[in-house]
Amino acid sequence: MSELSETRWIVVANHKGGCGKTTTVVNLAAELARLGLSVLVVDLDPQANASMHIGKLHPSEVEVTCAELLASEVDRLPQALHEDTHIEGVSLIYGSLALGRAEDSLKEHTARPSEELKAKLAPLDGLYDIVLIDCPPSLKLLTSNALSLATHLIIPIESGSQYGLYGVTDLLRHVDKIKRINPKLEFMGALLIKHDERQTVCKLIETAANEQFGKLLPVKIPVSTKVNQAAMGQMSLHSIDKNARVAKEFRKLAEYVIESLGLTAIEGK
Ligand SMILES: Nc1ncnc2c1ncn2[C@@H]1O[C@H](COP(=O)(O)OP(=O)(O)OP(=O)(O)O)[C@@H](O)[C@H]1O
Ligand SMILES: [Mg+2]
Repeated sequence: MSELSETRWIVVANHKGGCGKTTTVVNLAAELARLGLSVLVVDLDPQANASMHIGKLHPSEVEVTCAELLASEVDRLPQALHEDTHIEGVSLIYGSLALGRAEDSLKEHTARPSEELKAKLAPLDGLYDIVLIDCPPSLKLLTSNALSLATHLIIPIESGSQYGLYGVTDLLRHVDKIKRINPKLEFMGALLIKHDERQTVCKLIETAANEQFGKLLPVKIPVSTKVNQAAMGQMSLHSIDKNARVAKEFRKLAEYVIESLGLTAIEGK
């Protein structure tokens, strides 16, 4: 972790469950780190799937997760940061089941319930090139907290499902509402996940997503059993099979993100 000038806070959100948020966060983080960037993953989901993939500890054993960070009146950030993870170059602030309770208590105990995470993570600004935040499948306070501090937003869409775009209007309305308190929030684009050009449903979802979001990321993530293998083995896709198409697509996604943010990659890692 070196002293840098500006941190990009990228939130990966969609209240639709199982659309690829965690997969995007973990694999994009791994590729950004391989390209030489300092990366932190913040797991804001009570399911803690990103933590189980990246982290060396089980979320239930971790003393300070996002939940304790949000609930504490004193600064617990130094205890929450874990630099030693299963993915080289990627640090982690764990999520845990206790986030459910933390979300409830935000409403009762804080003056600005959707800006608590921003206040708690503010000291990290400038310390990482990119912070990637994984959200739960809901539009409630945890997601609002992430969007309130984000500089950029990626919305993964499950391309292989006919319900992939269900609820998108609510999501976009919610993002617009958040923009009133966070005008710097920039939509990077929707990311098609489990995409297969040969399938009619994928083609239809691609066309409809283009219309609804007006901005699709120029990378489409294919279906691959390697995604589950990587999660189960707590590895990056690159270390499972660097020649797999899905690994290469996440690499392309990282390169696109770096370029569009005006950052510089260090090749050859
Ligand atoms: N490209 C892919 N090919 C095959 N399986 C995938 C792919 N992307 C994601 N998956 C699988 O789909 C499931 C859902 O993905 P993931 O956990 O990333 O979604 P999510 O949006 O984070 O879910 P939740 O809303 O529950 O947090 C997981 O089992 C994951 O391994
Ligand atoms: Mg998830």
